Amino acid sequence: MDKLKIAILGMGYVGLTSGIAFSKHGFKSICTTTTRSKAVNLAKGIPPFYEPGVEELLKELVNVGMLSGSVNNVEAVDQSDVTFICVGTPSLPDGSADLSSIRDTARDIGIALKEKDSYHVVVAKSTIPPGTTEEIILPFVEKYSGKQVDRDFGLCMNPEFLRQGEAVHDSFNPDRIVIGQHDKRSGDVLEYIYRDYTCSKIRCDIKAAELIKYAANSLLATKISFANEFSRICEKFNIDVYEVMRGVGLDFRLNPRFLDAGCGFGGSCFPKDVSAIKTLAKNIEVETPILDAVLYTNEIQPLHLVEIVRDAVGSLKGKIIAVLGLSFKPNTDDIRATRALPIIKKLVEEGAKIRAYDPKAATNFKRLVDLPVEYCDTWEEGLRGADLAVVQSDWKEIRDIKAEDFKRLLKNPVVVDGRRTYDANLLKAQGVRYYGIGWKNKA
Ligand code: UDX
Repeated sequence: MDKLKIAILGMGYVGLTSGIAFSKHGFKSICTTTTRSKAVNLAKGIPPFYEPGVEELLKELVNVGMLSGSVNNVEAVDQSDVTFICVGTPSLPDGSADLSSIRDTARDIGIALKEKDSYHVVVAKSTIPPGTTEEIILPFVEKYSGKQVDRDFGLCMNPEFLRQGEAVHDSFNPDRIVIGQHDKRSGDVLEYIYRDYTCSKIRCDIKAAELIKYAANSLLATKISFANEFSRICEKFNIDVYEVMRGVGLDFRLNPRFLDAGCGFGGSCFPKDVSAIKTLAKNIEVETPILDAVLYTNEIQPLHLVEIVRDAVGSLKGKIIAVLGLSFKPNTDDIRATRALPIIKKLVEEGAKIRAYDPKAATNFKRLVDLPVEYCDTWEEGLRGADLAVVQSDWKEIRDIKAEDFKRLLKNPVVVDGRRTYDANLLKAQGVRYYGIGWKNKA
């Protein structure tokens, strides 16, 4: 198996970082995309998105011929031994997962396998509802290839748990590797590909692997909404929710991570995956009161941040507000489901004038929204002359802003912190009027 070649269908965060990790571990990989310019750029070592560390690794691996890009799925599968499906499964209007790219790639795999004599393993890595691998991918591949699973090709489901902004680190250092296998032989191939990884590996049923991803994302999103709900209780009692969650997280049965209250979760996974599993459950007549509440809390939390702004400075009519951070989290230019959108919408509705700054995501945000926002090239420009600052995404350079900067640049040094970015006591001691999610705002 030493010379296994890998095709990765999809060049998003999961596809590209998986391609980088596999080729770095010695497996020559081809990443495909439907967008020609992305494939052309990949050949020059230019990634299709901003993600720390990706560009350097890409250049290195492309230069030594271990990683290449293509727009031809059939050719990529034909030239490889294992194919990972890493295409997107975005939300449809009813919240369910759009599986059209899954069907397209399964068909392409089938077409390629028709002409191949050697054993090939098909692996679904995209986040897909339970049953998709065996009830959609498998029949498509069998239909278009004329071949039979187990005998002619293998089938696995191998969910990906990487976080954007940390994608390189996570793909080289996962907490666990889940191998859902149709049969032992296919699972063995995946186990071999991951042989250098020392983390726990579990081998399970394909449907269980599919659901593990939804369950993990739902539980993480639940922790965040839980902390956010408590943040509002804490504010009423003038208690710091971070102190409370620190105390909660020390229980060995829990875990201190993902209990950071803020203005809500965004990104390409939590909102989409919780909605998808909730819709799926509804369609099979299973009630999901916990998941409903997780999403509801995530809708009200950004609006609650605007309430804090109002409490801090009164009417927002005509106020100039510097919004710092537009991406859904630091270290990414991704603005999918960013909480900056509901926050800015509400601030504009209430008559505020918005100056926005983000180190990387302003172009994407501008493309997404049609709102009267003045985009600034630096945080200094955003703060200069504004009535107050609102922090939505805590990039390091935003975290590094000092009390003296707020005092020097803002009309009045008022900071409303949606991510609990700063040491509140320090800022207050240095003369900044500090308000934060789950903070002692009335003290
Ligand atoms: C998430 C999962 O963490 C990852 O395992 C999965 O593969 C994809 O979805 P990602 O969306 O990239 O990763 O980022 P993550 O760091 O999980 O943050 C998601 C959102 O939750 C961000 O908006 C972040 O600001 C928010 N968040 C996270 C909180 O509000 N509080 C926390 O304690 C942690």
